[in-house]
Amino acid sequence: MKIPPPTIGLRLIRQRALPLLCLLGAVVTGLPAQAGTMVNPDTHFSATEGPELYAAICQGCHMPDAKGAQGAGKYPALAGNPRVASAGYVVHNVLHGYHGMPAFADTLDDQQVANVVNYVRSHFGNSDTDLVNPDQVHQAR
Ligand code: HEC
Repeated sequence: MKIPPPTIGLRLIRQRALPLLCLLGAVVTGLPAQAGTMVNPDTHFSATEGPELYAAICQGCHMPDAKGAQGAGKYPALAGNPRVASAGYVVHNVLHGYHGMPAFADTLDDQQVANVVNYVRSHFGNSDTDLVNPDQVHQAR
């Protein structure tokens, strides 16, 4: 039997790998791409109130009910999440991002960050009453 030269084998692998890579790309980009198109890092958000900011920014990843989502990526629930009890932690994440989560320090002002953080921490079953003010957000920048 004639053994094919290695290049043919390589070409075969490449041919087979292409659709596989495309598929992988589609799976990997599915949820984040959707979220990514909703949140353009250059957008300056005009909304000022917590609920509107949550709807415009956070819910694309953390879902409208804040229960998060799990697909190719993991979007943690903010609802009933004990880590949300730490105001500083939430402010820090929104300002500076956190792994797969983008930073919003350049797109939100201090008041907007405070409003959306306070909203998340006092809704969705979270009942944290120590609200943050814009000065505290400013300090965390
Ligand atoms: C583009 C998607 C995306 C957007 C938009 C987004 N997040 Fe996130 N967020 C994530 C991901 C992904 C993580 C988890 C990061 C990790 O653990 O690796 C996360 C983590 C968090 C955490 C930490 C949760 C924990 O259990 O430690 C908080 C708090 C949070 N986000 C709040 C917000 C708020 C508030 C907004 C809106 C201002 C927001 N996020 C917008 C993707 C996003």
